[in-house]
Amino acid sequence: MNIEKTIIGGAQSLKNSNIKNPYLDSELLMLKVINKDRKYIILNSKKKLSSKYLENFKNLVCRRKRREPIAYLINSKEFWKQKYFINKHVLIPRPDSEILVEETLKLYEKKKKINLLDVGTGSGCLLLSILKERKNFLGTGVDISKNAINTAQFNAKVQKLNNRVKFYISDIDKFLIGKYDLILSNPPYIKKFDLKYLDEDILLYEPKVALDGGSDGFSEITKVINKASDLIKRNGKFILEIGYNQKNETINRLINKNFYINKIVKDYGKNDRCIISTKI
Ligand SMILES: C[S@@+](CC[C@H](N)C(=O)[O-])C[C@H]1O[C@@H](n2cnc3c(N)ncnc32)[C@H](O)[C@@H]1O
Repeated sequence: MNIEKTIIGGAQSLKNSNIKNPYLDSELLMLKVINKDRKYIILNSKKKLSSKYLENFKNLVCRRKRREPIAYLINSKEFWKQKYFINKHVLIPRPDSEILVEETLKLYEKKKKINLLDVGTGSGCLLLSILKERKNFLGTGVDISKNAINTAQFNAKVQKLNNRVKFYISDIDKFLIGKYDLILSNPPYIKKFDLKYLDEDILLYEPKVALDGGSDGFSEITKVINKASDLIKRNGKFILEIGYNQKNETINRLINKNFYINKIVKDYGKNDRCIISTKI
């Protein structure tokens, strides 16, 4: 069977299982199996595939049919301007979280030197995207998951940022190291009860520790706010991602900890997604 026919067959099989973008997914899985780029596929569409490749491809299509996200199957996701290595231990970076990167870059000019902390760094996508854009920033990433920190460390190495970043495995509650000009965080913020309403792709495969915000959705948000209040320098900035219905309660918690609210930023779906505040 040649490359083109195999992709079409894979797409048909995915379509029959109601996968949303069957052709795109099938092509991405083929690229992963043969370890080539799209150009190669276009130029070599009639090339025959070895039985080993065919078997690997079928296996990935089966996993996709069981709703395993493409990013986990191909171990990659684009975020901001880079590709990140992704595995089942980290949340798949979301386009909406790019708002945190964008807002950070607006706050600091290119030559500024600051210390920045990313709480719940996961794949490292927020922290590393910012460090890539601001050569004088020094970064620290903390995560409760050892596997997530290993993944972030790997991404830092690939992006040649490992000399400007430190990673720690810790519950943010117990983290005591450093003082920061900027703290950012995309914490888990979904109510435990609501987890079961998530799409199967997310519910069955993404790490619960990255999603579960406790019974009211605020357990990790509250921890991060309390700790940020201790670790941030005076006049330091705090950029926090929140759920679409968490603005008012989060603002109350921030004000209680002496943060001044600068700005609420909406996401691409026009939901309140990010709060920018200053420690006073
Ligand atoms: C929503 S994910 C965000 C990952 C990444 N920053 C991003 O934006 O894609 C939340 C991350 O927080 C971590 N986490 C959850 N509870 C934590 C805690 N108490 N202390 C530190 N990290 C925590 C999870 O392991 C997960 O990697």
